[in-house]
Amino acid sequence: MTSTETSVDDVQAVILVGGKGTRLRPLTLSAPKPMLPTAGLPFLTHLLSRISAAGITRIVLGTSFQSHVFEQHFGDGSKMGLSITYVHESEPLGTGGGIRNVLPELTAETVLVFNGDVLCGTDVRSIIDTHQTSGAEVTLHLVRVTDPRAFGCVPTDSDGRVTAFLEKTQDPPTDQINAGCYVFNRSVIESIPEGRPVSVEREVFPGLLAEGRHVHGHVDSGYWRDMGTPEDFVRGSADLVRGIAPSPALQGHRGEFLVHDGASVGPGALLIGGTVVGRGAEIGAGARLDGAVIFDGAVVEAGAVIERTIVGFGARIGPRALIRDGVIGDGADIGARCELLRGARVWPGVKLPDGGIRFSTDV
Ligand code: GDD
Ligand code: MG
Repeated sequence: MTSTETSVDDVQAVILVGGKGTRLRPLTLSAPKPMLPTAGLPFLTHLLSRISAAGITRIVLGTSFQSHVFEQHFGDGSKMGLSITYVHESEPLGTGGGIRNVLPELTAETVLVFNGDVLCGTDVRSIIDTHQTSGAEVTLHLVRVTDPRAFGCVPTDSDGRVTAFLEKTQDPPTDQINAGCYVFNRSVIESIPEGRPVSVEREVFPGLLAEGRHVHGHVDSGYWRDMGTPEDFVRGSADLVRGIAPSPALQGHRGEFLVHDGASVGPGALLIGGTVVGRGAEIGAGARLDGAVIFDGAVVEAGAVIERTIVGFGARIGPRALIRDGVIGDGADIGARCELLRGARVWPGVKLPDGGIRFSTDV
């Protein structure tokens, strides 16, 4: 069977969106990670459009933290031609518990499960295709990365069968990792223990392998990025803007920058490196934005320099400030000439006076 023949009629998709997004704080204090604007759209829109492009329309969101935000935005999904339902965990049940918890919503025999924070170009039909061809009970999408230690390390044998699942090991035996997308036969989901936290990575997959069950790997080399850290979020957003990361939701947009409706850009301002300027944001004259992610309503004053940094909703960056590799919380106010360098995180609403923090002694 080729991927164009893959049948998706009896496939439903589950997206896990119940994490707290702690590594993206303070932005995730006010919005869940999958709802943060990425190239101007909530991140989840990119994933939903990719699932929809594969012809899968029945989607269940497994929510916990800030669940109402998802439903408020996507509703029943009909605007996107989808049918979306929501299952809430009042206490987070973990990734495996989250999958088990949506079982009452599942009518299909084949269930695609996605981590809700992965930007990826792989055609989901090709993963289902591998699942159907190999006859496995579970198929994992796998990619190769330079440092596997932050991920689930997943070695396979010469037939593509998964031989181990080692979540966040310091001593990874291969560079092949779990890309955060799985195909499950429904019966496997039924066997996950109910009503208690379960990790699919630390309990379900190792358990299946210990029982000698058939878990298969679908390895490919398309675009892939977990958006969970500020560094990756900034890179992923810029890659979307520049067309390096594909998203059906952006309808082929490709350029050095993206400026949304109602935003203004002053004379001589330079926008490069996949910079995105949100709705109603204001960029002052001569400002330089390189790989910047400016959320809606933020203000960047004249001559400020912003590199690889996320500026939250309604925040203000004062004249000639320099921010590099930082995260500025919603509504924060950074005074003129402040310098915030690598790793700086400013909490929402915090006000820094003019020249209040500097890394150099010149005035
Ligand atoms: N419903 C629900 N309930 N969802 C959850 C819960 C929960 O208790 N905990 C986490 N999630 C969701 C998160 O919202 C996210 O979309 C997804 O599950 C994965 O959680 P992360 O916190 O982003 O995990 P990670 O990035 O450290 O690691 C995972 O992803 C890697 C690939 O991106 C693991 O699956 C790794 O094995 C994998 O390599
Ligand atoms: Mg993640």
